[in-house]
Amino acid sequence: MKFTFHNPTDLIFGAGMLSELGKTVAAYGKKALLVTGGGSVKQNGTFDRAVKSLSEAGVSIAECSGVEPNPRLSTVERGAGIARREGCDVVVALGGGSTMDAAKIMAAALFYDGDLWNMFLHGQKNRRLPERALPIVTVPTLAATGSEMNCGSVITNEETTIKSFVTAPCLYPKVAIVDPELTVSVPKHQTAFGVCDLITHVTESYFNGVDGTPLQDRFAEGVILTAMEWGPKAVTDGNDLEARAQVQWASVVALNGWVQVGTFGPYPVHMIEHVLSAHHDIAHGAGLAIVNPAWMRFAARTRPSRFVQFAERIFGITPKHPEDPDAIAEGIDRFEEFLRSIGCPTRLFEAGIGDALLARYAEDTVIVAHDDQGRLPGRPAMTQADIVEVLRSAL
Ligand code: NZQ
Ligand code: ZN
Repeated sequence: MKFTFHNPTDLIFGAGMLSELGKTVAAYGKKALLVTGGGSVKQNGTFDRAVKSLSEAGVSIAECSGVEPNPRLSTVERGAGIARREGCDVVVALGGGSTMDAAKIMAAALFYDGDLWNMFLHGQKNRRLPERALPIVTVPTLAATGSEMNCGSVITNEETTIKSFVTAPCLYPKVAIVDPELTVSVPKHQTAFGVCDLITHVTESYFNGVDGTPLQDRFAEGVILTAMEWGPKAVTDGNDLEARAQVQWASVVALNGWVQVGTFGPYPVHMIEHVLSAHHDIAHGAGLAIVNPAWMRFAARTRPSRFVQFAERIFGITPKHPEDPDAIAEGIDRFEEFLRSIGCPTRLFEAGIGDALLARYAEDTVIVAHDDQGRLPGRPAMTQADIVEVLRSAL
């Protein structure tokens, strides 16, 4: 093992911690661009509490509301314009992953010359990463992406229907205020999609990472088991604050880099899902619930022992031998059944997606991520035909 690791985001975690917002933000600026989504924070009172905390600390705000799920490039440009016009010196994201991702790019846009889309990987020759951003403070209202404590952002270019990502050190939030109380209003289906998303963040590195990372395996298994224990409780009773807290902590840990460190795994399931949410505007976590089990059945053929380990350690299945196909199949079936039991779709038709565009999805997937032979990186690397096969098996 050989790696370097640094995550500079300060984490403030716990019920009621929203009250820390004003003084936290005041340490970084006097005028905040306050970025929000489609209105949930206004309906449930979170917005008013945030504004009060900011104003008590002497921070004024310029508002950028209306960030949509699967945020668009034009929304990011709109928010950057507001920040520029209003002279904001700090950015506060109050919402789900979409709001946080959009806010990060708004913060970087002020220092970025040229087309913002050039930050995002989409097969271009002269990609330029952002190097500077206004200080960012994240306040997630949904447990899912982990965007609050990582340096990634995922944005859709609505003109080309390509959804892509950027990771850059300047996009790390200065502070993440993670208050599980803010998630009690998240509807059951979104709660379930968040559970699926956080589990998928760790299954990606678990199945696609390099060999010889036994501690990282245990971290990933710990996240999966915790999410499978507490996720259903949060779905069943949204007001169960203990369940909300455990799920949200799991979602932070799942993608703040700690579980992945040293594994160097690519994210094939995410790359395929991003194409589905780009074309059909479905919830990211719902798309993952469809793609991940189908991908697992495909990938198990090339790395059976890893899938036996998953079956054994997650579901207590005893294999007959280290590559036992029955144990593998049962492990994946039970994982899929878990996703269904909390309310996730696991077939494309449930998300209203048919087979008309399968080849296009495969093509778009490798535009964003490909190796020198044009294949989607992962274990195994996938040709476009492989991607079509996986998606067809999920119809
Ligand atoms: O927009 P509002 O009105 O706030 O409603 C949202 C939205 O409709 C609602 N919601 C959020 N908090 C709520 C709430 N409803 C009631 N009460 C609350 N407290 O939930 C809906 C979904 O919100 P969204 O932000 O889209 O969900 P999520 O957090 O799952 O974010 C998904 C986006 O993040 C990207 C995805 O691709 C997708 O675009 N990802 C970002 C990553 C990252 N930056 O690290 C990694 C992920 O793998 C992912 O790709
Ligand atoms: Zn994800």
